[in-house]
Amino acid sequence: MTAESTEPAPPPGCPAHGLVKMYGHEFAADPHGTYARLREHGQFAPVEIAPGVPATLAIGYDAVLEMLRDDRTFLNNPSEWQKTVPPDCPVLPMMGYRPNALFADGTVHARLRGAILDSFARLDTATLRRYVERSADTLLQWIGPHGQADIQGEYAMALPVLVFMELFGCPSDISEKIVSGMSGIFEAIDAEKANAELAEGIMELVAHKRARPGEDITSWLMAHPARLTDEEMAHQLTVLLGGGIEPAGNLISGALRLLLSDDRFAGDLSGGSVPIEDALDEVLWTDPPIANYAARYPVRDVELAGHLLPADRPVVISFAAANTDPSKAGEQRVGNRAHLAWGAGPHLCPVREEGRLIASIALEKLLDGLPDMELAVPVEELEWRPGMFHRAPVSMPVRFPPVHTPEAPKQEHNARPVTPMPDSRAAHAPVAQPSGLRRLVASVTRWWRGD
Ligand code: HEM
Repeated sequence: MTAESTEPAPPPGCPAHGLVKMYGHEFAADPHGTYARLREHGQFAPVEIAPGVPATLAIGYDAVLEMLRDDRTFLNNPSEWQKTVPPDCPVLPMMGYRPNALFADGTVHARLRGAILDSFARLDTATLRRYVERSADTLLQWIGPHGQADIQGEYAMALPVLVFMELFGCPSDISEKIVSGMSGIFEAIDAEKANAELAEGIMELVAHKRARPGEDITSWLMAHPARLTDEEMAHQLTVLLGGGIEPAGNLISGALRLLLSDDRFAGDLSGGSVPIEDALDEVLWTDPPIANYAARYPVRDVELAGHLLPADRPVVISFAAANTDPSKAGEQRVGNRAHLAWGAGPHLCPVREEGRLIASIALEKLLDGLPDMELAVPVEELEWRPGMFHRAPVSMPVRFPPVHTPEAPKQEHNARPVTPMPDSRAAHAPVAQPSGLRRLVASVTRWWRGD
């Protein structure tokens, strides 16, 4: 199930009738065209986020900033709104309540967020760099000999998965269970069994770390004075895993697309990090990985920027539209970090520095490891994933002169080996996994997107 739908349009009389649709291929093919059309409404515009489900889209930079900073008037907890939409509403898996920091307000939020912030503060940059470099080396060894790849699936999304397994201290047997559970959910073979397997995997990780804490985010979260229960641990791990992998992967592929196709970022790509940092800034401004995800729920009917925001209607924040607000168009983007791609206010992404560093190192390693890489299709032919939440290509085919490293496993063309998952207990001796990384990546991302 995706936010995209082939369902019929809402009938006349339905509050969503005639509204601009934020789902489907049309929106995905040209979201900026949609934002441009919506700007005639001002800083907020009425839209439909799923068939028959109306919402207000916040598209003005100033209005978005004001809302994000005012967490007394605009809440993150969707519980009340959720009661008004059908249980099978396709956006519910993404927007429905879960007891984690993202959907919490006030003191509950402060406690959960504090635990996340303090745990990531214990991670030093050198360690993160080592995890990213090792993960990149692993992936490049497999991709290199082929001379072609789908960089979106095989590198941009795969790398954060490998990094996160190390960051969270996830042993390979437990990773496998998590993978298998997630895959099962989406292959819809036996959803109940798959759900149970996923929950079991995450709870096993929690139990494993309670018994054998290590130098990893899971253990640091547990040791935090907030004293998270096992259930709270599971929910925070889920939001970190689900909410981290997808945007980090899309940040990598978004910047790579610019580096490979946009003259402003051309030049000697292997010659340093300047074009990479510039491309990251540009993508965070113009095509932020989380495009239209954060939602806020007004505590009462609120007037803002000349618009009435009804209490019973979610206001979806368009980071993509706010960042490209024509009233800010004259501002220099490269080196300017005033974009809203990481959010703002009390829910500002707590992992933004690490997220950017992961993307930056991943790109550096990729461009160094596979020199002379080029897109295998014209950039305008890249297909975008439907759905309003994330900005991501379906795939990103590239070609490059094959690179053989001495350690690279011998493979048949198009028969890549099952992917080793790093084991925090033996990080240098990865274990082959029958389920494979691609399956994990697909599962994690589809699960988080609500497919
Ligand atoms: C690399 C690209 C990333 C982007 C563009 C991004 C963007 C964002 C945005 C826009 C928000 C605010 C949501 C809101 O206001 O409701 C957010 C929150 C959050 N992000 Fe990120 N993020 C990224 C990476 C990560 C990573 C790698 C992690 C975890 C490992 C992460 C964990 C979180 C969490 C837990 C929150 C909720 C914080 C709260 O509610 O207090 N993000 N992120």
